[in-house]
Amino acid sequence: MEVVGSTKIPAVSELVSKAKAAFVDKFGCEPQCAAYGPGRVNLIGEHTDYNEGFVFPMALPQVTVVVGKKSEGNVCRVLTLAESVDEPKYVEFPVPSAETPLKPGSPKWANYVKGVVANYIGSVVPFDAVVVSSVPLGGGVSSSASLEVATYTFLDALTNGGADVSKKDKALACQKAEHEYAGMPCGIMDQFISVMGQEGHALLIDCRSMEGKLVPMNDPNVVVLVTNSNVKHELTGSEYPTRKKQCEVAAKVMGKKSLREASMKDLEEFKEKLDDVMYRRARHVIGEIIRTEEAAKCLEQGDYTRFGKLMVESHNALRDDYEVSCPELDELVVAAMEAEGVFGSRMTGGGFGGCTVTLLKKEAVEKAIQHIQKRYSQTATFYVCPPAAGAAPLSLS
Ligand code: GLA
Repeated sequence: MEVVGSTKIPAVSELVSKAKAAFVDKFGCEPQCAAYGPGRVNLIGEHTDYNEGFVFPMALPQVTVVVGKKSEGNVCRVLTLAESVDEPKYVEFPVPSAETPLKPGSPKWANYVKGVVANYIGSVVPFDAVVVSSVPLGGGVSSSASLEVATYTFLDALTNGGADVSKKDKALACQKAEHEYAGMPCGIMDQFISVMGQEGHALLIDCRSMEGKLVPMNDPNVVVLVTNSNVKHELTGSEYPTRKKQCEVAAKVMGKKSLREASMKDLEEFKEKLDDVMYRRARHVIGEIIRTEEAAKCLEQGDYTRFGKLMVESHNALRDDYEVSCPELDELVVAAMEAEGVFGSRMTGGGFGGCTVTLLKKEAVEKAIQHIQKRYSQTATFYVCPPAAGAAPLSLS
């Protein structure tokens, strides 16, 4: 759908053509296989995944594509076309073995690829590859998970492997790659949705049982607007593990395995034993888990008004109790909520910059974009995003 003021999202086939041409240019032959992994936007359920709670993301039409070919020798050679990568775009590393184990290092973007190669379930062969992506980098919409999952799916295509490995195990291998090679102790949401997303659906993931429930999201009169604040405060890296730790401590104080097991009643009972910060962190998580389960039901029933209210409650709790928002995200949410036809809006992803997600009437989207841009102190980028499909191999013919 063409929407004035929004950025056109390139088709996967366009990205493949670009990657193919770059591959021929760099490696002097045609690539043999290709795969993609999508970014994601989380509708609600933020900072709940590592607390064994619920999350409710959908896969985005913005994807990372990997094309490539088996190569001779023992070396993997990878080129990225990502424009904002302020580092060398080309890297070589050995196929991991006892003598040549892989290690994270520089350039940073390649750590996601290396991490997946190191954690791939099956044996990796040497390859040449080109990576291209339409997922905004550092935008809180999982550019890293999309690269991990695209790489994993590419390796499946390259080795004809993966048929006997569950989607869950593939997602967990990609999460491990991020933990070990990017040093980010993330939850499972991003990799799960990138692997398991389905067109026209959001996915309610129970991060305790690790089961997902697809919820149809295909009302032609309602759209999801992703707004990139185009700011990134350098806090996520340090603040994320701190939040995670605070949650673990709060759960422990309450005698629970995780905050998923705690209720608001438990929280009030233990209020005296928790310091103010820990109390507020736990209040966000416990409340957000409840909101997320309810929001999924609202979507099933087409109750967008209630869904939107829950989104705003989520944003406010992330801003005030969890303290992971920032003035730019707050501005975007306030502006969105002033526009006509908007049900709800909130920051999405880890926070401290990146994107907001807004649910609104389709007929209202152009005016809403105009209004948000007018009120926002910086320049935002807007994407109208239908729920897309999870990772898959691609045909190159
Ligand atoms: C990042 C992490 C996810 C999740 C979100 C916050 O995107 O990768 O696992 O914790 O932050 O909801």
